[in-house]
Amino acid sequence: MSTKTEPLVLGIETSCDETGVGIVRGHTLLADEIASSVDEHARFGGVVPEVASRAHFEAMVPTMQRALDKAGVTLSDVDAIAVTAGPGLAGALLVGVAAAKAYALAAGKPIYGVNHLAAHVAVDTLEHGALPEPAIALLVSGGHSSLLRVDDLAGGVTPLGATIDDAAGEAFDKVARVLGLPFPGGPPIDRAAREGHVAIPFPRGLTAPRDLAEHRFDFSFSGLKTAVARWVEARQRAGEAVPVNDVAASFQEAVCDVLTAKAVDACREHGVETLVIGGGVAANSRIRSMAQERCDKYGITLRVPRPKLCTDNGAMVAALGSHLVAAGAAPGSLGLPSDSAMPITLVTA
Ligand code: KG4
Ligand code: ZN
Repeated sequence: MSTKTEPLVLGIETSCDETGVGIVRGHTLLADEIASSVDEHARFGGVVPEVASRAHFEAMVPTMQRALDKAGVTLSDVDAIAVTAGPGLAGALLVGVAAAKAYALAAGKPIYGVNHLAAHVAVDTLEHGALPEPAIALLVSGGHSSLLRVDDLAGGVTPLGATIDDAAGEAFDKVARVLGLPFPGGPPIDRAAREGHVAIPFPRGLTAPRDLAEHRFDFSFSGLKTAVARWVEARQRAGEAVPVNDVAASFQEAVCDVLTAKAVDACREHGVETLVIGGGVAANSRIRSMAQERCDKYGITLRVPRPKLCTDNGAMVAALGSHLVAAGAAPGSLGLPSDSAMPITLVTA
């Protein structure tokens, strides 16, 4: 329930290939406008930083206008502006941070430079209300796969583990390429898997007892990616058709199995009753159903925002900004930096 006394916060996201502008009041989403340059990157099989930066530059002002129109507010109504300060592509971040500073200066508003990863967690508050703390967060995107303990979303999070090689989304994108599916690979693999069977026992990275001793809550997906590529190549060499749907289902099952098992283990070991999953891979239908089954088994409350809020958007940045304003966090200065390698332990720049 939104009231006029809750902060009206505008969020700007430009860390990768989506130009996002979101507007929230408290935990209520008022606008979530996105311009994506994904089609311009598709033929390269990955995001091209310079192309992304230019696209952000061109999309920023119209996306901002659409968001303000949609929310029915003007810039002068806004209480604060939040912007992704990192991590992400250096040039892409610069466009968003420069735009946020210009809007903040022009309208005389406080500015918050926020962490993109913490924003992927905060966005869930728009769907499920205030996040109970402590919570365990599983963050799975194209650039990151991390397990975090969240004791205070405004003050800091504690990393429990992360991928030691590819991010989960990156694995989806690379396996899609091997299977001849388009970029980004997550959505087409998700669709193909629904038509297939989990028929191939692909490896579960860092789950053997000796790996668990050293890498309890870490992930590894590069061995899985290589195993899929070898399996497909062997089929092709033998002149046999590749059962794309079954490979997609088996690969997806392996990724979701490891992610959800370690996330649930983290909740149990830490005695934490809330698991929140965020980032683009959280849009995956299998990770959502498997996480729900496993959380139900142990009495853990699962929170996963709807798929559109899982992938990059401006609303997640606004949601974190709103949380910071409500918590009384100090805003940044107009000199705030962008940091392409911003550590997850820093919620604000
Ligand atoms: O969070 P996000 O939009 O951008 C980053 O911060 O990286 O995540 C993008 C990643 C891509 O790798 C994409 O393939 C993956 O999320 N993704 C999915 C699905 N939708 C997007 N992965 C699996 N299943 C999906 N349905
Ligand atoms: Zn992201």
